[in-house]
Amino acid sequence: MNLEQTLREPIAPTKYLWWQHGVIYQIYPRSFQDSNGDGVGDLKGIVSRLDYLKWLGIDCIWLSPIFSSPMADFGYDISDYCGVHPLFGTMADFDELLEETHSRGMKVLLDLVPNHTSNQHPWFLESRSSRNNPKRDWYIWHDGGENGELPNNWLSVFGGHAWEWDETTGQYYYHAFLKEQPDLNWRNPDVQQAMLDVMRFWLDKGIDGFRVDVMWHMIKDSQLRDNPVAPDSPFHADDLIYDHYIPTYSTDQPEVHEIVRMMRALTDEYEERVLIGEIYLPIHKLVTYYGQGGSEAHLPFNFQLLTLPWDAARIASSIDEYEGALPMNGWPNWVLGNHDKPRIASRVGRSQAKVAAMMLLTLRGTPTIYYGDEIAMRDVPIPMDEIVDPQGLNMPELNVSRDPARTPMQWSNEIHSGFSQHKPWLRLPYNSGRVNVEMQKKDPHSMLAFYHKLIAARKQYAALNIGAYIPVYSDQQLISYIRQFGDERFLVILNLTHRPGYFRPRTGSYSGIVILCTEIERVGMSVSGIIAMGGDEGLLIKLN
Ligand code: GLC
Repeated sequence: MNLEQTLREPIAPTKYLWWQHGVIYQIYPRSFQDSNGDGVGDLKGIVSRLDYLKWLGIDCIWLSPIFSSPMADFGYDISDYCGVHPLFGTMADFDELLEETHSRGMKVLLDLVPNHTSNQHPWFLESRSSRNNPKRDWYIWHDGGENGELPNNWLSVFGGHAWEWDETTGQYYYHAFLKEQPDLNWRNPDVQQAMLDVMRFWLDKGIDGFRVDVMWHMIKDSQLRDNPVAPDSPFHADDLIYDHYIPTYSTDQPEVHEIVRMMRALTDEYEERVLIGEIYLPIHKLVTYYGQGGSEAHLPFNFQLLTLPWDAARIASSIDEYEGALPMNGWPNWVLGNHDKPRIASRVGRSQAKVAAMMLLTLRGTPTIYYGDEIAMRDVPIPMDEIVDPQGLNMPELNVSRDPARTPMQWSNEIHSGFSQHKPWLRLPYNSGRVNVEMQKKDPHSMLAFYHKLIAARKQYAALNIGAYIPVYSDQQLISYIRQFGDERFLVILNLTHRPGYFRPRTGSYSGIVILCTEIERVGMSVSGIIAMGGDEGLLIKLN
């Protein structure tokens, strides 16, 4: 049967919501723009760059945490969910940011970190004060064994055991991340209520939704059973490396879906708000977070482009697997980079990063752009004595610091690249005078120019935005697919290698005009039949 005939006809464009046709942009607030000369980015700084984001075509910004925090994990350790950290500004600054963003027709998402608090959060201070404290059960406390053994073999994502001994009350508490980030006990209804109140606080203020941190971690096995050892891990009992175990009992528990449903129900009390989940799971498990009848996350983040090897066959089949696994009305999404992973331009190289950009912005579903990827920022080498990321500091031999992907935005060739008047909290690369927004705005061949055009094309053509996705099978080096809406049809061909190759579809033949290409010289040319593709080339073809 012809695959095209099996596709569901998309409904009219007006039925789509902003988070379905829009482009999301992740801002790491410490590194976007400093306005007060302390070397750390802030809210006023972000406001001063909103016009740039509008020009780029961004529809929605997501801010990594801006809340009160001792900063053990750079804001993912929150001590007051409803307070703004003075480093970033004040609540008035936030209100201004919200208003300024909305007045430009863009949306604002905040990071919600419900799995754990800071160990300085008043809830935890109370909880650890005595075994009888009413908030004792707000966290996960457990006795040690007869000889003080740990409650089980669970490890912290950041290295070492996940249980911390508390002298005062003589019990262990569980922390999936740092010991400064104790996990909340989401089985406790008061915890659920408290976090829903936090959500309500920000939604009442008018934010447009949340990106929920480590959504799949929120509930743990009620019996705290040991996690199994990963079958092909280079396991040594004493190396305490998270990936050497399968987190069967510490993550992705069936009960988590009930929690996500509560969050969604609350979100749905407001108009057109969105709930996004940070979830690192294989596709078949990931899609369960859409929930029965779409009752959970609107967008469980899809990290395949971040986690899979850069191989055309592997990626093509996972795109198809994902498309096939989505539940009815489940809206897809794609992510190329975030503050936890190496940048795309470092992982696959600058030339392939252009191909990746074309993929991100032409696949079906909501794209999320990580700040700086639009100018092909690379991971910045950070000297050992300047590492600040706890993941990097805790496991120095593994080279897993996330600092290189969190460096200041490169705006111009002014002092500190226009990011700050003061020495930034993380260094800039030596070439930031050359690789920056200002330079790339003037250069039609730049990555920025390319992103700008890709986003514009996505806005101009419904097919690219909300159209159906139809895979086209050609060559092992390439990924190719059609996007279609009504009579409008585009063919995307991406060469994921540096070598030339041929687009030779197994069925059918296509002809059209190149409307966007990784190298602009080919734009406007007609193509048909077997199409010779350059190494690192991506073509967007409007089919006749
Ligand atoms: C998420 C965040 C990461 C943080 C961790 C613990 O994975 O993206 O930056 O360290 O949660 O909160």
